[in-house]
Amino acid sequence: MRLILLGAPGAGKGTQAGFIKEAFGIPQISTGDMLRAAVKAGTPLGLEAKKIMDEGGLVRDDIIIGLVKERIAQSDCANGFLFDGFPRTIPQAEAMKEAGVDIDFVVEIDVPDQMIVERMSGRRVHLSSGRTYHVVFNPPKAEGIDDETGEPLVQRDDDKEETVKKRLGVYHEQTEVLVGYYSRMAAAGDARAPRYVKIDGTRDVGTVRDEVLAVLKG
Ligand code: AP5
Ligand code: ZN
Repeated sequence: MRLILLGAPGAGKGTQAGFIKEAFGIPQISTGDMLRAAVKAGTPLGLEAKKIMDEGGLVRDDIIIGLVKERIAQSDCANGFLFDGFPRTIPQAEAMKEAGVDIDFVVEIDVPDQMIVERMSGRRVHLSSGRTYHVVFNPPKAEGIDDETGEPLVQRDDDKEETVKKRLGVYHEQTEVLVGYYSRMAAAGDARAPRYVKIDGTRDVGTVRDEVLAVLKG
């Protein structure tokens, strides 16, 4: 199964991706996690991406498309994968189409902007795995500590309120068009079109999870 999780920053893509990858045994491909790993490793890509990410902008399409193509060519992607935070622009979506990468499901997690800022301010992450928590809505077993590794949790550099607002603006300007792009493709019903599903992401983590998994299990 190949699927795309679409939604605003903080909608819960990473959180739901964790459940989907476990339920279906497919890798999660988060371009945000890949970029944060490059930043941490101090690679040339990381150095270039850090400034853009901290400002809430988007990293160049050609760089992202190259990263993703390389990643999906790896053997663990042979039976499918889950895109989290990709595609984020029409050129990124078109690049997958041109590469013959057919998608089975596009799952949109819909959350209004007002709720996003609250979610981001309480977010804590385990950087090396991408596991995500919230101090109130989805707390770790021990405060500030990752459940699986016992390592410390951190706040993301781009979770400052100002940057979150900028990221929301970028989402509405450049990424939200993909809602129309994929739902039109689904409605046209050609054999290569994905199924498009919109989920109300304002409910608690477990309720959203149950609905997402029920839809995917058909
Ligand atoms: P990326 O890492 O993809 O960030 P994002 O899309 O902005 O999304 P987030 O990770 O912030 O949110 P999420 O939807 O995963 O929510 P989460 O599950 O964590 O990208 C970061 C940057 O990298 C971009 O700004 C850009 O610069 C660059 N980049 C990445 N991909 C790119 C691309 N393709 N092209 C160009 N540039 C790219 O949840 C948020 C919080 O809410 C957590 O604390 C969580 O515990 C909590 N929560 C989740 N669900 C619920 C719920 N149902 N109820 C209550 N709380 C919840
Ligand atoms: Zn995420």
